[in-house]
Amino acid sequence: MIRELQLPGMFDPHVHLRGLDWSHKATFASETAAALAGGYWAVLDMPNTPPPTIDDPALDTKLAAITAEAVCDWGVYFGASQADNTAEYAAVTGRVCGLKIYNNATTGTLLIDDQTQRARHYAAWPPDRVIAVHAEGSTVLDILALVRQSGRRTHFCHISTAEEIGYLRAAKQEGLPVTVGVTPHHLFLTAEDVRSLGALGRMKPELKTAADQAVLWQAIDSGVVDVVESDHAPHTLAEKASENPPSGVPGLETTLPLLCTAVHEGRLTVDRLVELVALRPQAIFGKPPPPGTYTLVDLETSYLIARENLHTLCGWSPFEGQRVFGKVREVWIRGQRVFDGERVLVSPGFGHNLFAGMGTG
Ligand code: DOR
Ligand code: ZN
Repeated sequence: MIRELQLPGMFDPHVHLRGLDWSHKATFASETAAALAGGYWAVLDMPNTPPPTIDDPALDTKLAAITAEAVCDWGVYFGASQADNTAEYAAVTGRVCGLKIYNNATTGTLLIDDQTQRARHYAAWPPDRVIAVHAEGSTVLDILALVRQSGRRTHFCHISTAEEIGYLRAAKQEGLPVTVGVTPHHLFLTAEDVRSLGALGRMKPELKTAADQAVLWQAIDSGVVDVVESDHAPHTLAEKASENPPSGVPGLETTLPLLCTAVHEGRLTVDRLVELVALRPQAIFGKPPPPGTYTLVDLETSYLIARENLHTLCGWSPFEGQRVFGKVREVWIRGQRVFDGERVLVSPGFGHNLFAGMGTG
């Protein structure tokens, strides 16, 4: 067993950093600090935080705020909106990491459930840039039809069922340009856990059966799964305790230790771990880490996940009390030590937009 692992630029392509009108839940400063504490070099932020990132002014507002606050490197998604915003695409593609299309209901207002509208967004997005989709169940087939038609590279976020894995395994065999992400909560929790977790175990897609979970692990082994993405989605404890609790759980600081624990238990190889949290997401978005960018993780020391040790502003985790292996000792970005295992060592604004100046595609 190796004691210390050097990871080459951990990259999470699916986080909700909040800030803007949801700064009471979390801020770009707090959640990029949580990203460093979780071992990450870079994170890609989703567009569903109000005001949603669906037009040029909203994008400018978000870019200005993250630029001022981020302590890790980052990118942001543009969101497809129901009121057709495809005319905005040419102007924004040079500053964003990709397009996000919400095809099933979730937090925020960005649902597109009409196939003709989806096709319009697919046709308008530049062919060489990524489209990330929220698609559950048979909606995966609707999106695969668009991928087949348009040839657009599509990343399927947070896949959670055996049925969906079956569709995507077949799509890969067919040669479609698709990639697959799964989340740590679907890998390490099941619907049974909602009994004890209550609202802290509620997210979209919801937790599934142990049988679904077993298929996700098999799909990691067989290579159908490309990425483990946290889907970090902080909400306050007060919101979670309310009558109508919002969906979403934080995950940036627990993803790596949970996966290192799977390595410790012999359920995952170190090589596969490195692919899932660094090499594959880097390749999908065409962003290898800059020189001097890596994370050192202690694979042998175990500890309990506890809220007092978390950097996320929401201050809780669905994994509290679990014993895990995989302690982040140091994070380095561009030759600078940015995290020492406890504290962030750089000031807000240190992080770069990895997708600035991408051209209009
Ligand atoms: O549970 C979720 N929460 N799923 C999503 O797709 C969005 C996220 C959020 O923004 O809270
Ligand atoms: Zn999400």
